[in-house]
Amino acid sequence: MSEKKEVRIGLIGCGFMGRTHSNAYNRVPNFFPEQEYQPVLKAVCARSEDKVRAFADQWGYESVETDWKKLVSRDDIDAVDICTPNDTHAEIAIAAAQAGKMVLTEKPLARNIEEAKQMVDAVEKAGVKNTVWYNYRRLPAVTLAKQIIDSGKLGKIFHYRANFLQDWTISADLPQGGEGLWRLDAAAAGSGVTGDLLAHCIDTAIWLNGSITDVSAMTETFIKERVHQLTGKMQKVTIDDACIFHCHFKNGSLGLFESTRYARGHKALYTFEINGEHASIRWDLHDLNRLEYFDHSDESKLRGWRSIHVTDGDHPYMDKWWVPGLGIGYEHSFIHQAADFFKSLETGTPCSPTFKEAFETQQICEAVLKSAATKSWCEIESV
Ligand SMILES: NC(=O)c1ccc[n+]([C@@H]2O[C@H](COP(=O)([O-])OP(=O)(O)OC[C@H]3O[C@@H](n4cnc5c(N)ncnc54)[C@H](O)[C@@H]3O)[C@@H](O)[C@H]2O)c1
Repeated sequence: MSEKKEVRIGLIGCGFMGRTHSNAYNRVPNFFPEQEYQPVLKAVCARSEDKVRAFADQWGYESVETDWKKLVSRDDIDAVDICTPNDTHAEIAIAAAQAGKMVLTEKPLARNIEEAKQMVDAVEKAGVKNTVWYNYRRLPAVTLAKQIIDSGKLGKIFHYRANFLQDWTISADLPQGGEGLWRLDAAAAGSGVTGDLLAHCIDTAIWLNGSITDVSAMTETFIKERVHQLTGKMQKVTIDDACIFHCHFKNGSLGLFESTRYARGHKALYTFEINGEHASIRWDLHDLNRLEYFDHSDESKLRGWRSIHVTDGDHPYMDKWWVPGLGIGYEHSFIHQAADFFKSLETGTPCSPTFKEAFETQQICEAVLKSAATKSWCEIESV
């Protein structure tokens, strides 16, 4: 067996994503033991000493920091993983790249296009490996959708439709801003559902169906004022609570996207459907191991939507897990992305989406918000 190479991870942020990434790093050596590069949980950073120590003990980090600048400057860190709110991504990623570290960041790449551009420039100038955690690509059913589309089975694609629906901000009593609620404050998040939820839908869409050329959008902020957790004062709500846009793809197909946090009854309903000349595909996050497929070339009497349980050994990533028929979960998308990142060090190939690739999603989000604000169609500049 070849000698393993260590990638010493410095993770910043101990919230939701800090947990998914830490779980991923812990699982990679168990389920991808053949890979040459393996993570070592060297350090974790959060501002509260007590919290970060407890997190380090729980997930197996060797050391802690309470200032991300110290973590980024440490000689014993090879890769900085950013799991903090969106307003910190640019500053941390640029500093990490300048310190010669590999940089993995949570999505969206940044709050806006200016920050995103600086981040792309920083990693490219430093020549450091980079990736953005658009993790849904790595669910086996979504990767299978990509394989089916790339094989040409759908033929010419006419329609791409995606939704990301939640219902957790309907109460007017919910405050905005600060710990746990930074997503409701545009100063921290950049935008509302557009950068948070639609960014996922856009990343998957351009991966599956190619570039988007122009968009026409509308946004709504249903609750206009909320108490801000940091000031204690009633303040204007600056995020989009809901966003709907339609668009043209470069391949001639039409796109329709909707996201909201006001769809009572839906917690995280991410769905997409693609209609081609010969076949269609649809997928639903609530049933993430299944891919539905309709093939018009089937014998007419037997023709219908097939429900493919994407759990067989020849399905993407599934040879790494249990036995055929047994499903996997949300957390596996992060394990797969981490494994792909380490594999990309072995093969010398980029780990998609790179900052540069994720910049396209940022451009589309920006165009969507601009279109809604100006009530006009907005074109996406090609990079
Ligand atoms: N890929 C996905 O599916 C997905 C899902 C959720 C969140 N996200 C993204 O992940 C990022 C984090 O989101 P989350 O849900 O984990 O948020 P969270 O609020 O659960 O956690 C954020 C953590 O960052 C810490 N933090 C904030 N500022 C810090 C600083 N200056 N230094 C050190 N630590 C700091 C907070 O204390 C908290 O522990 C966001 O960019 C978000 O958009 C991605």
